[in-house]
Amino acid sequence: MSGLTQQRGAEHAAILGVGAYRASRVVPNADIVEAIDSSDEWIQQRSGIKERRFAEPHETITMMSVEASREALDAAGLTAKDIDCVIVATVSHLLQTPAAATAVAYELGTDRAAAFDISAACAGFSHGIAMAADLVRGGSSRHVLVIGVERLSDITDMRDRGSAFIFADGAGAAVVGPSDVPGIGPVVWGSDGEQFDLIRQREDWRDVVGSPEKPGSGVMPHLVMQGNPVFRWASFTMAKVAIEALDRAGITVDDLDVFVPHQANMRIIDAMARSMKLPPDVVIARDIAEQGNSSAASIPLALHRLIDEGQAKSGDTALLIAFGAGLAYAAQVVTVP
Ligand code: COA
Repeated sequence: MSGLTQQRGAEHAAILGVGAYRASRVVPNADIVEAIDSSDEWIQQRSGIKERRFAEPHETITMMSVEASREALDAAGLTAKDIDCVIVATVSHLLQTPAAATAVAYELGTDRAAAFDISAACAGFSHGIAMAADLVRGGSSRHVLVIGVERLSDITDMRDRGSAFIFADGAGAAVVGPSDVPGIGPVVWGSDGEQFDLIRQREDWRDVVGSPEKPGSGVMPHLVMQGNPVFRWASFTMAKVAIEALDRAGITVDDLDVFVPHQANMRIIDAMARSMKLPPDVVIARDIAEQGNSSAASIPLALHRLIDEGQAKSGDTALLIAFGAGLAYAAQVVTVP
């Protein structure tokens, strides 16, 4: 036997279009402070968040994903039939199986595209972009839809002082496909499982349901977070990862037009920008002020807004860096579509 036939894909991959869906309910700090004995001033000062978006019941994971994806497809000049793989990054699709991506692929009208979810929390979108670029270059797919989507309001304890003011809902999508020139740089990614417990679902579903020996709590296992160590890890370690992503792409901060970090906390964004010594003309995404932290959706939502407002232009060089529970992280340089 002379070996199996191998496939080869496109020489290069790029993001061809971006779309977004913002959950419709605007929730200002004033609406949540009483339950956590806080204030609008404290929340703005510590996190930069003025208001966040929460989903209404009809704004499901599937619905928000489909809306964001339609816009991304339009922007790419493609239709659902062109998509042969759908990757959904989420931690708030509360049906454990099947994957949200299968419903999204069907609702969109793809021709039975491969569809699966990935769980990398706030780092999920950048993981998806890295995988999509490799799928396109490796020949497994021609056009991949990468979606970051969350309904974190479903799993946030609105009485938890450490997290109630942070999380939010929404969806962002990007179409990744073949390109004549490199449009997605090498990914720098990793994890630090030693800090597994810093951001996590409070308890296992089995502890919620219980057993004959031990009654269950019957309470939604909300997301909990040790804010201070997460803050320190993100502010210091992630700037180094961001610089490494620039190095791997063969550029420096001076070549950068746009910086789109995960929208975790405005102070983390500022600390990273300082530590990376970003030149003052680099546009920095600050979507968190009005959107809150929407985990896997935060980077595509922030990038979409910059494109929409004309702050990021087609052909610009952008650095994406995503980090969160796990602790997992991923960063790459991309060309703005
Ligand atoms: N409202 C008012 N006061 C609060 C409060 C709240 N919601 N939460 C905590 N406090 C108080 C504390 O009791 C403490 O008071 P003390 O000094 O009198 O003891 C003080 O504020 C400082 O608490 P601390 O937990 O050290 O706050 P912090 O400066 O670390 O800020 C976060 C808290 C959550 C804003 C910050 O840690 C953070 O943003 N972490 C990263 C979170 C994040 O980005 N997560 C997503 C990653 S994907």
